[in-house]
Amino acid sequence: MQWGSATLAFYGIGAAAVAASVAALRKRLELSQAKHPSLSGHARIARRLARFVPFYEYDAERFFCSDGATHDIAARRRAGFNQLAQIYRTRFAETIRATAEAAESLSDLQFTAAYRVPFQYRRMVRAHLPSASFVQASHGVTLIDLDGNHSYDLTGSYGVNLLGCDFYKTTIERGAARVRELGPVLGSYHPLINENAKMLKEISGLDEVSFHMSGTEAVMQAVRLARYHTRRSHVVRFCGAYHGWWDDVQPGVGNPIAARRTYTLTEMSERALRVLRKRRNVACVLVNPLQALHPNLSPPSDSALIDSGRGAHFDKARYGEWLKKLRAVCSERNIVLIFDEVFVGFRLAKGGAQEYFGVRADLVTYGKTLGGGLAVGVVCGRSDLMKRYRNARPADICLARGTFNSHPYVMAAMNEFLRALKTPQIDALYRELDEVWNARAHMLNARLAAAKLPVRVANLSSIWTVCYTQPSRYNWMLQYYLRAEGLLLSWIGTGRLIFSLNYSDADFAAVADRFVAAASAVQRDGWWWHNPALTDRAIRRTVLKEIIAERWARLRRAVYGDGQDPA
Ligand SMILES: Cc1ncc(COP(=O)(O)O)c(C=O)c1O
Repeated sequence: MQWGSATLAFYGIGAAAVAASVAALRKRLELSQAKHPSLSGHARIARRLARFVPFYEYDAERFFCSDGATHDIAARRRAGFNQLAQIYRTRFAETIRATAEAAESLSDLQFTAAYRVPFQYRRMVRAHLPSASFVQASHGVTLIDLDGNHSYDLTGSYGVNLLGCDFYKTTIERGAARVRELGPVLGSYHPLINENAKMLKEISGLDEVSFHMSGTEAVMQAVRLARYHTRRSHVVRFCGAYHGWWDDVQPGVGNPIAARRTYTLTEMSERALRVLRKRRNVACVLVNPLQALHPNLSPPSDSALIDSGRGAHFDKARYGEWLKKLRAVCSERNIVLIFDEVFVGFRLAKGGAQEYFGVRADLVTYGKTLGGGLAVGVVCGRSDLMKRYRNARPADICLARGTFNSHPYVMAAMNEFLRALKTPQIDALYRELDEVWNARAHMLNARLAAAKLPVRVANLSSIWTVCYTQPSRYNWMLQYYLRAEGLLLSWIGTGRLIFSLNYSDADFAAVADRFVAAASAVQRDGWWWHNPALTDRAIRRTVLKEIIAERWARLRRAVYGDGQDPA
């Protein structure tokens, strides 16, 4: 048989198409394998499933025995709950009243009040242990609410409060005095910006600096620059890591649209490195070094605390090794490595995560405490990456603006903060940082163990999270007992305790006493009643069954038309 050239060409094209499809399929498979098996590792599926979860709640009976507790235990819990509610009503009366009034107008308050505990328990908790989110003064490491109660501040103002509220009162006041003559003039700069840029270059070890208004915007700009210079489209982030609330870095639940140019990969995984080696469309890799405390897990919040599955353990050497491998692959593939140090910058070390783990990034984002108490976002980077235009192509630019960038008052407060870092007192704080905070976590854990309480803390320096050692559906109750003991947490509850570095040993001892007292009260009131059949897996299975049953009931109502809303 004679093969015509057209036939040969046809087979050739076919073979090439098959080879290309196999290669594409293999790449797709490698990407799937590099994703974390959890829902956080699969943003699209998580978003779809989130829509499937219906609201349902436990009635006043089930609220106290959703784990199958005996009648006696449920009665003990009820008594404890009522007593706590009484304490809230009397001790926080004005603070609760003001919060409720504000919640009528502030959507943020409505949201945070609704997401403090798993939704099945929400209504009862909100009715009897309402949010008390107002404070009128700060003093040392304490905050004072509208009823005059002093509570130890474990919120850390989302991480901004590194050196104590009094410190920031001073940076803001002194800074404002230095720029008063200029006032809030924007567009031109106050001369002290030069000193800020110089100090930030020294700290970051990078060539240039840009100023923005929030951490989210700093991350947006770093990613945009990476895309511009590499001419590649995709950003890699790691499972569970928070990088602000901009669409591309928040592909999962919480973002109404899909982030189509984001890969969410498993952190500390060879498979993730393989994807970075193979893919040609990756512009940058974003790392939030806070994840070293709980790699691949989302920021812990008590609203997701349906069981005791929350885990955390910080291993500095392992995480440092991971970052070194990541650095090597990024260098090999010309991928921009971005350290998002908005939270941990200045907290782990003066030189942030770069210094702490001994790994250098191409771009670093900072924020929070760097503003000296005022809002800020900063990008530091290599000069070739920071450039926003191309000499040879004048119309091909990378735009970044922002009305309030480089606001004189912010620059001045930042200047006070950066200058303070050079003082011997702050130097001493950094020298003993890990030693002090690891010892404090160890001491508290030893006390909790001695008291046979099923709760422990894990820490990354001064950033802590509370873990639970025995399966329970009621761990989230601890946040309310802690508040009654005078320990103030942020709205995500026991998932994140943030200490400022001005906590003295005596302050910390008082916190430890109160923490143990609160946990003992949770134990006493029966919330940690233990039943060997109650495993974390069994709890999750129960909740899943409840969700399916509720969904099914709604479907039936829709089909049989009993007039109830099926949505
Ligand atoms: C690592 C990280 N990146 C970015 C952000 C966003 O910063 P901002 O809230 O200032 O926009 C945060 C805030 O918590 C953060 O922790």
